[in-house]
Amino acid sequence: MAIDARRPDLTIGVIGTGAMGRGIVQVAAAGGMRVLMTDSRPGAAQEARDFIGKMLDRAAEKGGMRKDEAVAAVERISIVDGLAALKPCHVVIEAIVENLEAKQALYGELETVVAPDCILASNTSSLSVTTIASKMKTPQRFAGFHFFNPVPLMRLVEVIEGLLTEPWVADALMEVGRRMTREPVRLKDAPGFLVNQVGRGFSLEASHLVYEGVSTFADVDRVMRDVGGFRMGPFELMELTGLDVTQPASELIYQQFFQEPRYRPNLIMRSRYEAGLLGRKSKRGFYEYDAGMKAIVAPEGAPPQARPGSVWVSPAEPQGQSALVALLGKLGVTPETGAQPGAKTLCLVTPIGEDATTCAVEQGLDPARTVAVDTLFPLVKRRTIMGTPLTDPAYRDAAHGLLASDGVPVTVCRDSPGFIAQRIVSMIVNIGCSIAQSRTAQPADIDKAVTLGLNYPNGPFKFGDVLGADRVYKVLSAMYRIYGDPRYRPNIWLTRRAKLGVSLLTPEP
Ligand code: NAI
Repeated sequence: MAIDARRPDLTIGVIGTGAMGRGIVQVAAAGGMRVLMTDSRPGAAQEARDFIGKMLDRAAEKGGMRKDEAVAAVERISIVDGLAALKPCHVVIEAIVENLEAKQALYGELETVVAPDCILASNTSSLSVTTIASKMKTPQRFAGFHFFNPVPLMRLVEVIEGLLTEPWVADALMEVGRRMTREPVRLKDAPGFLVNQVGRGFSLEASHLVYEGVSTFADVDRVMRDVGGFRMGPFELMELTGLDVTQPASELIYQQFFQEPRYRPNLIMRSRYEAGLLGRKSKRGFYEYDAGMKAIVAPEGAPPQARPGSVWVSPAEPQGQSALVALLGKLGVTPETGAQPGAKTLCLVTPIGEDATTCAVEQGLDPARTVAVDTLFPLVKRRTIMGTPLTDPAYRDAAHGLLASDGVPVTVCRDSPGFIAQRIVSMIVNIGCSIAQSRTAQPADIDKAVTLGLNYPNGPFKFGDVLGADRVYKVLSAMYRIYGDPRYRPNIWLTRRAKLGVSLLTPEP
């Protein structure tokens, strides 16, 4: 059984015309398909049609489409009353309230109305596609079709196959997605699908860092923007989405994965969620806001004027050593060349995944004179340093002053395996690899979904390949060793490719 998703008269039904449903209607109609839409709240569908009309008019004014195309698109949309009127549809997409019982009841009724080969799809953001289908008589024609908000601007759509979904259903939805000018990505049902699963790496590891006292919200955001290349820091992003969305989603994904430590939330987000510090929508979250809703962020202090008398760079990580020695050269400093540092020399270490304390102890350095510098990322826009609990503040300030002497800001965090960016990016890579290992989706599709759906500078596989799979593996292995927490155990997909020295995109035969 299969429908022809290319047929010119393809008719799409949309149930629920709220924020998401109306966006789906808009892209379907603009893509040349006929749309029948319905909503249980009287007047809601008419409001949605008026809204879509305005959006398409605006698109025409801005030159995004011709005026006659905009008019024709709106004319392709019909408002219908109740599910029975969806009988002529080839595909029905549901975007009603996120409630399992409500969705299951709706599909139970819908199944009896539409043709046997009509595809039934849900825009659910967090419910299992397989679970929704479990009450259906025809689960084989059901799939997830997950759009992102706002639909007309977010080109990604996840096509999710439940356990019983037949392949022709996802084939057809991929085509329907393309006709809607979306970028569809195909995957098997999994908690958080692709985008929301990978997104846990960013938000949760950031909140673990703050929970442990390693750094502050504002500093983590600065480092992830300037060092990681993200458009927004993790806390800024959570402010925008709202903790009322992010926190329940995080707890649900953690429970759906049977408490997999990789997805473990923590109290930072939970207690703020309970206190109602949700972000922009509550006018207070991790940041406070001024009258114009601009986040109030304390400016960074001026760097110390102090400079070290002499500097020694540890050879334990040769790549990091050479990157740091090159930078010091540009700053006009020639480090000592001896195998051991002089008696009063500042000892700079460049750990991959280790904390400054482990470096000092294992390399036999004086912890009072040891400062670690993150060299895994380019040292261009911002630098991150940390000391041991015993590092003499005068030595830390000297390192800070020196590394900021060309005007590049320096973030000082407390001792932490993996600093800030190493930790967060490695968790993103590790989660991406676990999705590929479990055959949920192909690596290239995971990267595509993450860059389009989350706006990250790279997807997990590209990030891993740019940094080096072996080095990401090293970050996670060191964190696992130092913390003893299975949260940080490297996934086997990553481990094998790191050991073989090949790209993380290398598929299994
Ligand atoms: P919304 O509250 O803006 O709209 C839901 C609409 O469905 C309302 O107009 C409501 O009257 C209607 N409705 C509720 N029960 C109905 C029923 N039994 N029959 C017909 N209409 C019914 O919600 P929103 O944000 O559009 O979300 C809809 C779905 O999309 C949910 O499953 C949500 O998880 C999912 N989603 C939401 C995203 C978002 O950012 N808002 C992103 C991706 C998915």
